[in-house]
Amino acid sequence: MANSLRTVFVFNLCALSFVQCDQFSRNTYNVFDFGAAADGSTDDTLAFEDAWKAMCWSRAASPTLYVPYGGTFLLHPVIFSGPCHSKTINVKIDGELIAPRDPSKWKCKGNKCHQWIGFVNLNGLYISGSGTINAQGTQWWASFCNHKKQGCGRKKPTGFAILYSKDVHISDLTFMDSPQMHITFERSKWVYATNLTITAPQHSPNTDGIHTQHSQYVFIAETHIATGDDCISIGDGSSYINISTITCGPGHGISIGSLGEKMKNETVEHVYVSDVDFRGTSNGARIKTWQGGRGFARNIVFERIRCFGSTHPIIIDQYYCDHQHCTNHTSAVQVSNVRYSQIYGTSREDTAVKFACSESVPCRDIFMNDINIQSADQHTSKAMSFCQNVQGRQNGEVSPGVPCLTN
Ligand SMILES: *[C@@H]1O[C@H](CO)[C@@H](O)[C@H](O)[C@H]1NC(C)=O
Ligand SMILES: *[C@@H]1O[C@H](CO)[C@@H](O)[C@H](O)[C@H]1NC(C)=O
Ligand SMILES: *[C@@H]1O[C@H](CO)[C@@H](O)[C@H](O)[C@H]1NC(C)=O
Ligand SMILES: *[C@@H]1O[C@H](CO)[C@@H](O)[C@H](O)[C@H]1NC(C)=O
Repeated sequence: MANSLRTVFVFNLCALSFVQCDQFSRNTYNVFDFGAAADGSTDDTLAFEDAWKAMCWSRAASPTLYVPYGGTFLLHPVIFSGPCHSKTINVKIDGELIAPRDPSKWKCKGNKCHQWIGFVNLNGLYISGSGTINAQGTQWWASFCNHKKQGCGRKKPTGFAILYSKDVHISDLTFMDSPQMHITFERSKWVYATNLTITAPQHSPNTDGIHTQHSQYVFIAETHIATGDDCISIGDGSSYINISTITCGPGHGISIGSLGEKMKNETVEHVYVSDVDFRGTSNGARIKTWQGGRGFARNIVFERIRCFGSTHPIIIDQYYCDHQHCTNHTSAVQVSNVRYSQIYGTSREDTAVKFACSESVPCRDIFMNDINIQSADQHTSKAMSFCQNVQGRQNGEVSPGVPCLTN
């Protein structure tokens, strides 16, 4: 305690007297030195904000904000923003970060909580550690409904967001129980997420693992995701997305979309997904678009994928609708140049491959090779495919066969 008080005092003295001092050149900014209590109930937000500011102004070449192992740090919604002085900054989290359990206790700026923890306007950010980022979202799931439904109030916040940033590396951490999506990358470029663990209960609503939106050059690898919604979802404006070595399940699979809601023009391209194990997911490799949109989902590869009892291992659904009243339209997001190869495993529903493409804007250049998906219950049923309005080719073994594709 004495030590942390002294540091705060020295820090203030430096700020007041404009002298060049230790505070501005240190390599490590430990949140304990800025007054964090780490007892799981005292609000540590200010300590983190102060440590961030000091680190961000540091003249060290590559300073680190450090959250030690052993403590539980209660944080309210907080934004760490740049730009910072150094070209590279580090956030090392070995302790546990938690959010208030009760949604009404969240101190949101202007009553808006877009996310719990946000990093904004940074270039050269490394976030790592053996710690856990636990938003304790149980009460959010219970007390707030899907914002798209009528009569629903506040939108549930994302857990952890990277916004307007470049060259961001997130590794080794565990993310848990977000009110809504766990991690989002928005308007960012060159983002690397590796060796992460993301978990939430199977029936928690809208708890996607990782979501990308208006972002380019995103790499997600060696990550284990088990949540209540998509393991990874790729939204509007995403391109050059590379996803590899993922275990997904339970969850809704890896999804492109949904795109084209409310007649919007939305685009996704250059997505490469490889080496994925889907375990008990509702979908596997999925592309979903609403009726009535515009734009495209194109140049997409799904390869080397294994599914263990997924409900729909391979699906393109151009009639996506998450509420009751959707009507068909003549415009649609164009799905083209999608390749599926080396996909093996079992399907819980008989329809292992489903291509429900738009009548007015059919899917084109769909390629399949080396596919073998069997029914999870081979004694009573046989895997089948469904296809409409699809043009493309198949070669090698494709089982179940897809009649819309030519050889
Ligand atoms: C992955 O993260 C875990 C947990 O933080 C860590 O123990 C392990 O060393 C990391 N693996 C690699 C290859 O870095
Ligand atoms: C995607 O990343 C994997 C793993 O790092 C790499 O082997 C592969 O070449 C990349 N693919 C593309 C299309 O960038
Ligand atoms: C949709 O957006 C894309 C990318 O921004 C643009 O190239 C295209 O012209 C737009 N299409 C329509 C129909 O507005
Ligand atoms: C929209 O079109 C699809 C495919 O033709 C059809 O299965 C579905 O019933 C239609 N939906 C409505 C609401 O008309």
